[in-house]
Amino acid sequence: MKLAILGMGAVGRGILEVLDGKELGLTVTGLADSKSGLMDRDGIHIEEVLAAKRERGFCGDKYISATDIVEQADYDVLVEVTPTDARTGEPATGFIKAAIGRGKHVVTSNKGPVALHHAVLQSMARKHGVAFRYEATVGGAIPIMHTLEHGLAGNRVLAVFGILNGTCNFILTRMAAENLTYDQALLEAREMGYAEADPTYDVKGIDAAIKLVILSNTIWKRNVKLDDVGITGIDMLTTDALRLAEEQHCTIRLIAEAVPERGILRVAPRVLPKNHPLVVDGSLNAITLETDMAGEITLIGKGAGSRETASAIIGDVLFIREMHVRGH
Ligand code: HSE
Repeated sequence: MKLAILGMGAVGRGILEVLDGKELGLTVTGLADSKSGLMDRDGIHIEEVLAAKRERGFCGDKYISATDIVEQADYDVLVEVTPTDARTGEPATGFIKAAIGRGKHVVTSNKGPVALHHAVLQSMARKHGVAFRYEATVGGAIPIMHTLEHGLAGNRVLAVFGILNGTCNFILTRMAAENLTYDQALLEAREMGYAEADPTYDVKGIDAAIKLVILSNTIWKRNVKLDDVGITGIDMLTTDALRLAEEQHCTIRLIAEAVPERGILRVAPRVLPKNHPLVVDGSLNAITLETDMAGEITLIGKGAGSRETASAIIGDVLFIREMHVRGH
């Protein structure tokens, strides 16, 4: 199966490294970063591209753009992993629509287009008989979308509670465990590649809120928007607040919650007992689903990181190969 990949940040590089190291039967025929692009219908040499990116900061030909790749490359699946613009969803939404319009499947980690245009993109994909998948947008490596779609099929989901931002969780863990200041912990989170290109998305709770919107619209088809979410971030939290919580055998976590029947849709720091199922450490995410048949299910896993996000992307790509390309 042939892939065109847009974006060579932490996620794009993670995907290329995985493809370079594993025999998955996937060939990259188009690739673009923010400054250049490459097309080769026989397959791009991944090691060379990674080396070029490391050495000179861009991967290919400066006269080939992401748009050229989307419109001209020979591929089955567009892997759209450019940075999120939550306000406009662009340019990613345009790339995704153009690929679907060409009858190509799309897999994305980009939260902007999904949070803003989920219903439109899904219906466009259905019309063209292709898949539009976005497992990597929520919970990093946690297979939350596959779980909802398959494992919990037939269940009514009553509520969702979760730690949906790895950067905030990492910062809160490091502040409590090592007495680091907020700024030191944020710097570490950025160095680890967890934070968004603009980390204010993370620490102000916006990234978690975007993921809550994506989850809500996937589960309940409600078409909620970012503005519908009540948001408080962790950027004002002090080491003292964390120490006070510690003294009560508790800790503070940024919790996203959606309970439609009670009109709850919010992201805010919460004091939780240390043995609460959602209290996970470091860049981990945790998601609890309350359902009518299965009861309560909590999924825990790496919520951010290059290889972890690549896991979700590759899972979607291989799922598409099973369902569509092999004609099941
Ligand atoms: N910045 C995000 C996080 C990356 O920290 O969770 C994964 O979406």
